[in-house]
Amino acid sequence: MSIEIIEQNKKSWNTVAHHFNGKDALPSYGPFAQREEELGLFGELSNKKVLDIGCGSGHSLAYMAEKGASELWGVDLSEAQINTARETLKEVKNNLFCAPMESDIGLPKKYFDVVYSIYAIGWTTDLAATFQLIHSYLKPGGSFIFSWDHPLYAHLKSQNGEIHLDGSYQNEGVTQYENFKGEEAPVVIPKRKMATYINELIKAGFTIESVIESDVSSGFDGVDEEISDRYYSLYKARRFPTTMIIKSIKG
Ligand SMILES: C[S@@+](CC[C@H](N)C(=O)[O-])C[C@H]1O[C@@H](n2cnc3c(N)ncnc32)[C@H](O)[C@@H]1O
Repeated sequence: MSIEIIEQNKKSWNTVAHHFNGKDALPSYGPFAQREEELGLFGELSNKKVLDIGCGSGHSLAYMAEKGASELWGVDLSEAQINTARETLKEVKNNLFCAPMESDIGLPKKYFDVVYSIYAIGWTTDLAATFQLIHSYLKPGGSFIFSWDHPLYAHLKSQNGEIHLDGSYQNEGVTQYENFKGEEAPVVIPKRKMATYINELIKAGFTIESVIESDVSSGFDGVDEEISDRYYSLYKARRFPTTMIIKSIKG
């Protein structure tokens, strides 16, 4: 775990939090990707105890509440995000914690039916420790579902509609960006290969049930695409998965 990276990312997430209110939240798994109505990964949620890793503005937890989850727990690094989540969830009982996902902050062990993370897990500075902690929070038979940028996606650049490889997919490590969401908010984002996510899940003791390289959601059927060089675009999403989604089970 890198305390320096965590501190820097925390500061920057506090700066940009307002751009993310209600973005990247269930039932969406990610930009242009199939949604929970299409994938049905969570199954029945009534009376389930759920924990959201990187809960952001709390909108995925609000979705869990609508589906009848009995306990809503969430962890996020940013105070600004946690404050927004408290507002989002003010009508329902919740347990929210401002902390890095890679730290053991004493959350209950063998307690949750479902742990999930929507577009947050890749921020961890210690994937192995994070997956081990998540495994420890789950009851035997509990599920862990997460979505994140498809690991190759960040390496695909579009120029006048021609998609090419940028940099090396082989090199794992961290990349520093000086601006985030157009703000002066330096962030450090780890880059990992698809195999690293899968192997770390296996090492933590999970059985992988499903690996999804997203297709475009049927909500975009019939929508014309324009050639676009934006990081996320319908044009790019129809040619390459924006999002990886993995469901694992604690045996
Ligand atoms: C795109 S947002 C997630 C949206 C959220 N999952 C939802 O459902 O609405 C990514 C979140 O990851 C959080 N984050 C970044 N690094 C983190 C870390 N090391 N531990 C916990 N949360 C982290 C950020 O503060 C941010 O709220």
